[in-house]
Amino acid sequence: MRVGIAADHGGFDLKEQIAEALRAADYEVVDFGAQKLNPADDYPDFITPMAKAVARGEVDRGVAVCGSGVGACVAANKIPGVWAALILDVFSAHQGVEDDDMNVICLGGRVTGFALAWDLIQAFLTARFIGTERHRRRLNKIAALENEGERKGKKNS
Ligand code: RB5
Repeated sequence: MRVGIAADHGGFDLKEQIAEALRAADYEVVDFGAQKLNPADDYPDFITPMAKAVARGEVDRGVAVCGSGVGACVAANKIPGVWAALILDVFSAHQGVEDDDMNVICLGGRVTGFALAWDLIQAFLTARFIGTERHRRRLNKIAALENEGERKGKKNS
């Protein structure tokens, strides 16, 4: 599995630890930066390219980290085809995939320590979308909102 990973300064240290652990566990890691700690950087500059790679299928899943995980989650969810959530517990880490087809996990580098983050990521990466009719029906209702947004965007450009 190819896993994209991205973080700003608030998530940089946790991203580095996660990337190392993923490689050690034989995941293929695509690191969208930051490549060095820069206290003045902005999370959309790293999260957005990673989220686009998930939406295009260039990576299978994504890990987005900022200080709280909130900004990373908001940025990732602006990309059509991305289903991102800020995750703090193991149940949501796998159930978010199983029921909601979550493809990007967002973590707070100032909130979640490496040991828990690694448990969350393993639960996320090993989970699979169940895909029953009721799950697809709910996701289709959300996907319809993405299409609505695209039409509005085109009208204004
Ligand atoms: C950056 O200092 C911080 O605001 C950012 O990493 C994140 O927590 C935003 O949600």
